[in-house]
Amino acid sequence: MNRRLALAVLGVFALGCQNAAPAGDEEGSAAAGTTDGSSGGEPATGTTGDASDWRYTYWRDTKAILDKHCATCHRPGDVAPFSLATAEEAQMFAGVLAPAILDGTMPPWPPAAECNRYDHDRSLPAADREVLLTWIDDGAPLGDPADAPPSGPEAPSIAWDLDLPLPEPYLATQSPDDYRCFVLDWPEDQLKYVVGFDVVPDVRPIVHHAIAFLIPPGSVTTYKNLDAADEGPGYTCFGSPGGGGFSQQWLGAWAPGTQPSLDERRGIPVQPGSAIVLQMHYHPMDTGGPADRTRLRLKLADSVEVPLHVIPFTNPEWLGGSMQIPAGEPRVVHDFEVDLTSFIGDFFPQAGVQNGEPFVMHEVSLHMHTRGRRASLELDRQGAEDECALYIPNWDFSWQGGYRLKAPMTVKPGDRLRLTCEWDNSAANQPIVDGVQLDPVDIFWGEGTGDEMCLAVLTVSPVQ
Ligand code: HEC
Repeated sequence: MNRRLALAVLGVFALGCQNAAPAGDEEGSAAAGTTDGSSGGEPATGTTGDASDWRYTYWRDTKAILDKHCATCHRPGDVAPFSLATAEEAQMFAGVLAPAILDGTMPPWPPAAECNRYDHDRSLPAADREVLLTWIDDGAPLGDPADAPPSGPEAPSIAWDLDLPLPEPYLATQSPDDYRCFVLDWPEDQLKYVVGFDVVPDVRPIVHHAIAFLIPPGSVTTYKNLDAADEGPGYTCFGSPGGGGFSQQWLGAWAPGTQPSLDERRGIPVQPGSAIVLQMHYHPMDTGGPADRTRLRLKLADSVEVPLHVIPFTNPEWLGGSMQIPAGEPRVVHDFEVDLTSFIGDFFPQAGVQNGEPFVMHEVSLHMHTRGRRASLELDRQGAEDECALYIPNWDFSWQGGYRLKAPMTVKPGDRLRLTCEWDNSAANQPIVDGVQLDPVDIFWGEGTGDEMCLAVLTVSPVQ
């Protein structure tokens, strides 16, 4: 609801700007949030203003930052509601950017910086933040196009081995959120390792996130049956791919802005006869199309130095009904702490780690549904200080991801892994269906939109 409102306000703002405030006139610079008065009323564009007041200009300083950190989503036809891809657009919207930059909501990067460090960190470095905010404060001057930075090197292209589109185009039938799972056949007839992962959204503005699950050969029929029982391509699913139990494992998650990942040293083994369930979260404004045919691209290897296994970590009792989130409660916390090394071999024999042996965590993610507020995964080292693996301070179901640790963490016997989730089940935090806000009800673990989960997903290997 908030997002809808924000978008509507922005839409109006954009129209207002186009009609009444061509970039660079007085209203343009007032809209650009000039607060110190020194440059108020100055023309904010070109090279005609008092250039000596400009600490930073678009061409010289902020274009590179906006291109790298914002325009990857804020460009025509992509997921963000307005474009920051040109000088005119950057200047026109400069006035609305500061709050989102200041409170850290943009660019979207859920993990808390103080917890740990990850590959492909999308957050805005502090120095770039300062430059942007100062530039906005000065009235977003454009400066001299001759100062434009040289275009950076093209991202290296990856030679993908598999390109797996949805079996057929899918026309989203639910607005604003359509959660749909598609079963993709696994074409390889030898054991392979997935070392690179990418999702190529087709209808970009409506694809909000995607999670790929690996289904072992013995469970493929279960998912084919779910597909067959639901009309149209794929089947409705939410959160997990359905099918019950934990036989499926996460292969990877994607949200707008996610970089393709590739690491030839480490990979997830896939047996012949497996399948992939690709879960799509569509966010269509209406159900008028066009139909989507998103693709999953994978890089494979015959062997790897470090075979990875993806395991779920949660309190099994929660699945049995003990994870109660009472109706009306604004702050409900459940946590679970255990020495995973003492039973990892029994529960997850495929991970190749014996009970009582240390193991390495390479990648971590957390999973809740829509009433989640925050979640964390910490390692309680016996006697030593706790270590934080992942902390999501403002949970947003739409921006889920897996986070590859820059420094993999070794979990030793005696260490206790602690999972904590917090929910808001108050009246104010209930979904709105057909214009009516639902009443709060008691919530438990489950797979539906009205249920909740508290789950960590760990990508692990034996200690090498
Ligand atoms: C990974 C994609 C992505 C990147 C990168 C990104 N944005 Fe956004 N932005 C969005 C989406 C999507 C929305 C619409 C609201 C939503 O879905 O959260 C949005 C909305 C906004 C809004 C509207 C207010 C709000 O908070 O919803 C502002 C302002 C904004 N972005 C500024 C920026 C700036 C400035 C940057 C770069 C520093 C940036 N964004 C980078 C995807 C992105």
